[in-house]
Amino acid sequence: MADGVPESSRQRAEELRRQLNYHNYRYYVLDSPEIDDGEYDRLFRELEELEAGYPEIVAPDSPTQRVGAEPLEEFGTVRHRVPMLSLGNAFDEAELRAFDERVKRHLGLPADEQIDYLADLKVDGLAVSLTYEEGLLARGATRGDGYTGEDITQNLRTVRTIPLRMLGEELPPLAEVRGEVYLDRREFARINREREADGLPLFANPRNAAAGSVRQLDSSITARRRLDIIVYGFGASEGVSPERHSEMLDGLEARGFRASPQRAVCHGVDETAAYYRKWVERHAELSYGTDGVVAKVDSLAMQGDLGQVSRSPRWAVAYKFPPEEQTTVVKDIFVSVGRTGALTPVAMMEPVVISGSTVQMATLHNEDEVARKDVRAGDTVVVRKAGDVIPEVVSVVTGERTGDERKFVMPDKCPVCGADAIREEDEAVRRCAGIACPAQINGRIGHFFSRGGVNAEGLGPKIIAQLVSKKMVRDPADFYFLTKDDLLKLDRMADKLAENVLDAIASTKHPPLGRVISGLGIRHVGGHVAEVLAGQFRSLERLAAASEEELAETPEIGPVIAQAVAVFFRQEQTKELLRKLRKAGVSAQPPAAAPHASEGAFAGKSVVFTGALSIPRSEAEAIVKAQGGRATSSVSKSTDFVVLGDSPGSKAEKAEQLGIPSLTEEEFRRMLEQSD
Ligand code: IVH
Repeated sequence: MADGVPESSRQRAEELRRQLNYHNYRYYVLDSPEIDDGEYDRLFRELEELEAGYPEIVAPDSPTQRVGAEPLEEFGTVRHRVPMLSLGNAFDEAELRAFDERVKRHLGLPADEQIDYLADLKVDGLAVSLTYEEGLLARGATRGDGYTGEDITQNLRTVRTIPLRMLGEELPPLAEVRGEVYLDRREFARINREREADGLPLFANPRNAAAGSVRQLDSSITARRRLDIIVYGFGASEGVSPERHSEMLDGLEARGFRASPQRAVCHGVDETAAYYRKWVERHAELSYGTDGVVAKVDSLAMQGDLGQVSRSPRWAVAYKFPPEEQTTVVKDIFVSVGRTGALTPVAMMEPVVISGSTVQMATLHNEDEVARKDVRAGDTVVVRKAGDVIPEVVSVVTGERTGDERKFVMPDKCPVCGADAIREEDEAVRRCAGIACPAQINGRIGHFFSRGGVNAEGLGPKIIAQLVSKKMVRDPADFYFLTKDDLLKLDRMADKLAENVLDAIASTKHPPLGRVISGLGIRHVGGHVAEVLAGQFRSLERLAAASEEELAETPEIGPVIAQAVAVFFRQEQTKELLRKLRKAGVSAQPPAAAPHASEGAFAGKSVVFTGALSIPRSEAEAIVKAQGGRATSSVSKSTDFVVLGDSPGSKAEKAEQLGIPSLTEEEFRRMLEQSD
């Protein structure tokens, strides 16, 4: 009784924790409770009372600790001991077979050898890493960039299917358990119903809702959403040494985790293809979203030999389900005007659920596209989500036509401001020529404050549109001068909301330079190009002053982009915007300096890539540059290495003739890791 807690109370609390965690597991993970809810509540209350009497006995694995931690100001970061990778994709059976052949080739096995694959479903949620120390949940993190994630421990503790303490005895000293957190369809619908009743914006799909839920600073909100997890493997681990992936998953299940109930060991590629054929038919019946089958080499020794290419393991592939298609009726076709003035025909449709989210609008891109597909108001159409995100009209079901359908005519005036809408020769797009078109202003401002821009979370399109129409703002800089009184003039604006909006705007005063450049909406300048420009010019002022020639000398920047950037910064409107941003105290932060040419894995080296790599060529070249080297396109005597992708071409031969060392992509990646 050293600290005043009677030994009997301490033991009873421990016993209750053990029982409650076990019953929790029976109920949530196995879906087969041994006791009824009343009995569970009785045990729970007994533990709560004991803990209230002796707060010092509250243990981190106590089921009472799953809810209600103090709200956080921001998330900390967690470095993953073993990086969290992505998966290569296969889109048809031939690509699955090609994967199987690559596996055997790498392992030096004959083509007719049968490899065992552990197949399971790719859960459409978000990846998390759970670190257990001596069997206790110590930390939970998002995937982040694969190397470092956000610390969302408090939120993950509220997920009932995540054990706070592993079941069983002889717990491993360390284990990073990897899995996918998701919301099932019913819970997603419930959350959206609740949000609708509260007048909050709806989540587009379960995945966004799950992501929004685990990234809540207030874990009591997360606790109210019934998140679930399916685990699929380990990152770092000590004291666990299975020989097969399937054995590892069985082991995780025995420790109280939920692994995929659909998982199966498939002997050879034919069985794996049959597993896919079964689930492509049936996955829609599951209570949660899945977007493919993941096939993993079952032998962990083989996995080790295969290693990884760039950021994907060579031992696994995601064989994707085709995008779900549905039919619905086009009610009308209207024209929307974007930030560049482009007029885009959009189909308004009867709402239809596709892959878990409700769709009622689909872009028809431009007038030629409408004509090509001959989509008319009143038509029955097939729709799907391209890349499972943006809804698109695939085709018209012409057999359903009644003759009452109305053909679409592209207007020659902007439907928003009435200015002429002009289609340049060789362009598919018609653009509004108005200089003060509210739709363009809204779009430009929205783009500046969007996630790809400076990211003012909470400053939504409705608020922007009202401010523009009341002529209170004309460009993004005006937002930094708004006062609370200004905002209170808007419809449905309350004190608290006005403060949140002002905070959101103020939080963007020192954005990363690349985000500001991207937010300006310069033609041809997306996120990546903006980062390249930020790295090269390091301030808005220097970028604005750069000549077209200087711009074109920047690696990755071609003449078209160089011209677009130079033209943009020459405009009076841009100069005015930059002046106002400066006056508002907006100062962009340059990116961390690239390592000096004397540092980094490729310091002073010249590298040539050939053949198909698993990442875009431009990305590989950027990596070399970031590591102090040069990436060039042709092999010469001064080349230091040639990196060979799949089916390398004549450059590989030339390198061999010149005696220049060549690297596989795997070796290239290892060089990078060694320099970390
Ligand atoms: S195995 C890459 N199995 O997909 C390391 N991943 O695109 C091996 N995912 O980050 C992953 N369901 O979060 C695996 N049954 C499953 C999965 C799965 C979802 C996610 C995972 C990973 C991403 C890769």
